[in-house]
Amino acid sequence: MSVLFYSEADDPVPWRQAFAAALPEMPFQVWPDVEDTESVRYALVWNPPSGLLEKLPNLRAVLALGAGVDALLADPATPQVPVLRLLDAGLAPQMAEYAVYAVLHFHRRMRDYEKQQKQRIWNQLAPMPARSWSVGIMGTGVIGGLILEHLVTLGYLACGWSRSGTSIQGVESFAGEAELEAFLSKCRVVINVLPLTPHTIGILGRRTFNAMPRGSYVVNIGRGGHLIEEELVAALDSGQIAGAMLDVFNEEPLPQSSPLWSHPNVIVTPHIAGVTIAAEAEAQVIENVKRMERGEQPVGVVDRAKGY
Ligand code: GLV
Repeated sequence: MSVLFYSEADDPVPWRQAFAAALPEMPFQVWPDVEDTESVRYALVWNPPSGLLEKLPNLRAVLALGAGVDALLADPATPQVPVLRLLDAGLAPQMAEYAVYAVLHFHRRMRDYEKQQKQRIWNQLAPMPARSWSVGIMGTGVIGGLILEHLVTLGYLACGWSRSGTSIQGVESFAGEAELEAFLSKCRVVINVLPLTPHTIGILGRRTFNAMPRGSYVVNIGRGGHLIEEELVAALDSGQIAGAMLDVFNEEPLPQSSPLWSHPNVIVTPHIAGVTIAAEAEAQVIENVKRMERGEQPVGVVDRAKGY
């Protein structure tokens, strides 16, 4: 039995060391240096090329090196074995930092002050108390829940929207398609951390922007597929949306020709809101392998029907 590692984004060295220390009896093979595909029981992967996992006849589980498994599930060549995703594992605090930074950036008018500074203008803009800012999180799982906790601590009016509704202290909860517009109509800032599924694809589009109060802000740290980029540009140009902070895109790297790069009201970051750090994630991954070896249920098993 062995583990196969494939990722263009992650360094295999710390993972190899972690496995050698915790599971010395389990060889760790790094694609493409694989001596023996038959022995592979567990595939630890991020964005493997289509068809790679099909070459592993004794695969028992796919362990994703990230939280979002949309690409694995969308690939018909992904074998029908359990797919596990990272739950928090160091990603949630990073995502929460990014989200809180975005809210503070817009709420404390940092964009305006940057513009003023360029012109050497000393002008104090009117303060706005946090309690007058309603911030809505789309997706209230482990990541969304942590963002909401931080926002509540900072005094924002926090709202959460999810498929089935979640109860989080101090947070107004909205559920499902029926309550989406009511949720959006409240949000001065919408932050998307939903998983990308057939139900959520394109959810950040004209309809969503029009349901938000004029002059609101959009933060996308879910997936590029959630956002219809040209509809965002139109909403920014009309003033319906005042600003956006985007970390994920339909095509990554974001093409040079994208108007988002140079839009005055857009902040672009290169998919760094939550980066898998081996030292943070290895405990969950190794514990999952140990559980499966003992015949126990691992954590983070993806419900394929739901897509997360
Ligand atoms: C990153 O995008 C992840 O899904 O972990």
